[in-house]
Amino acid sequence: MKLSEIKEFDKNYFMNTFGERTPVAFEKGEGMYLYTNEGEKYLDMFAGIAVNALGYNHKEFTKAIEEQVGKLLHTSSLYYIESQALLAKKLVELSCADKIYFANSGAEANEGAIKLAKIYFYKKGIEKYEVISLKSSFHGRTLATVAATGQEKYQKPYYPLIPGFKQVEINDIEALKAAITDKTCAILLEPVQGESGVHPVEDEYIKEVRRICDEKEIILIFDEIQTGIGRCGKMFCYETLGVEPDIFTLAKALGNGIPIGAVCAKQFVADAFAPGDHGGTFGGNPLATKAGLAVLEAIEKENLCDNAEKMGNYIVSEIEEKLGDKVKEIRHKGLMIGIELKEAAADTRKKLFEKKILVGAVGNTLRVLPPLIIGKEEADEFIKALGEVL
Ligand SMILES: Cc1ncc(COP(=O)(O)O)c(C=O)c1O
Repeated sequence: MKLSEIKEFDKNYFMNTFGERTPVAFEKGEGMYLYTNEGEKYLDMFAGIAVNALGYNHKEFTKAIEEQVGKLLHTSSLYYIESQALLAKKLVELSCADKIYFANSGAEANEGAIKLAKIYFYKKGIEKYEVISLKSSFHGRTLATVAATGQEKYQKPYYPLIPGFKQVEINDIEALKAAITDKTCAILLEPVQGESGVHPVEDEYIKEVRRICDEKEIILIFDEIQTGIGRCGKMFCYETLGVEPDIFTLAKALGNGIPIGAVCAKQFVADAFAPGDHGGTFGGNPLATKAGLAVLEAIEKENLCDNAEKMGNYIVSEIEEKLGDKVKEIRHKGLMIGIELKEAAADTRKKLFEKKILVGAVGNTLRVLPPLIIGKEEADEFIKALGEVL
C-alpha cells in the first residue's frame, strides 16, 4: 500500500491516541536499519521506544520465534509451559529476584507489582496501601499506573484517580521522607526516568531510599521496563546502583517486539500471591517466553550489556567533544541517552528524520535509545547527522 492510503485508513478507522505520526510506514528491518516499501532506509536510534534491543531480523532470535510459531503459540497457564519455566529460571539466575510472574506489557507488569506490594501487607493483616512514586515518572496507561505516573497531562482526563498514590520530586530525600506515612506500602520508581527525558536517580538518594524502606517496612519497586535488559550497561539497571529492589518490573526489550512483561520479586514478597490472587490469559505464553529466552541468550552471547556501556560512553563523549557548544547537557546511562538542547527538540527530531535517522523528543531533550547491537559506524552516522542538523 502507498503511505497516503495507509494514512487515510488510519485516519478513518483507527482511534487517534498518537496525534500526528511521523510520516513513514516501515515494511522490514535489518540490523540497525528500517526500510519502507519504496526501499528508503532509516537508521533507527530509538528502537521502537527501547524495545528492539537486538535490532531487526536478528538471526537466532528470528529462528527461535519462527520455530515456536510452527509448534505452539498459546495454551494458557492452566497447563505447564516449558519456555515459561525456563525463562523464569533464567531471570532468577540473572537477578536478585526469586520468583517471576509474566504479563503482556509494561503497564500490566507494574499493575502486578503494585498489587503484589498491597497484598503482601493485606495478608499480614497490616493496613498499608499507599504508593509513593516520583514526579515526571512514567509507569503506564492503566488506571493504577496512570495514578502512579507523576505527570498531570496523563492523569487529568481520568480523575478521580485510584486513591492512595502520591508523587514527590526525584532525588529529594526530604520530600520523600515527608510523604511517607504509616500507610505507605511501596515506593515505585524508575532508576532512570525515561519518558520525561532521561533523568537518573542519584546514587546517594537511592541508597537512602533503600535504607528507609528497610527501616519502615516499605516495599521498594523498581520500574525497569525501559532501563532493564542491558540498556544501562548491565542486565538490570539496579546493578549499577549498588542497591537491590524487592520487586522490579520488565517489559519492552525482554520480548524484542513480542509483547511480554514480567514482575520479578524476592521470595518474601512473592509468597503473598496465592492461586486466584492475580492472573491473565496470555501472560507468559509459549511464544512470548521463547522470545524472552532468545533475547537473554543473544544479550549474553554477544556481550550486549558491555556494548551498551561502551557505545553509550562513545556516543556521549563524541557529542560532548564535537558538539558540546551546541547542546545544553547530556544525561545518560549506557545506551539510554538524553541530549538536552537549547531549544525544543521536536524540530531537531524532524530534521534528523529528514536525514533518515529516527530518535525521540520530549521538551528540549532528544531521546536516543538505539538497539544494543549498535556499532561505531552507525553511531558515527548519527553523530555526523546530528552535527549537520544542529
Ligand atoms: C518506565 C516505563 N514504565 C512503564 C511503561 C509502560 O509500558 P507499556 O507501554 O508496555 O505498557 C513504559 C513505556 O514507555 C515505561 O517507559
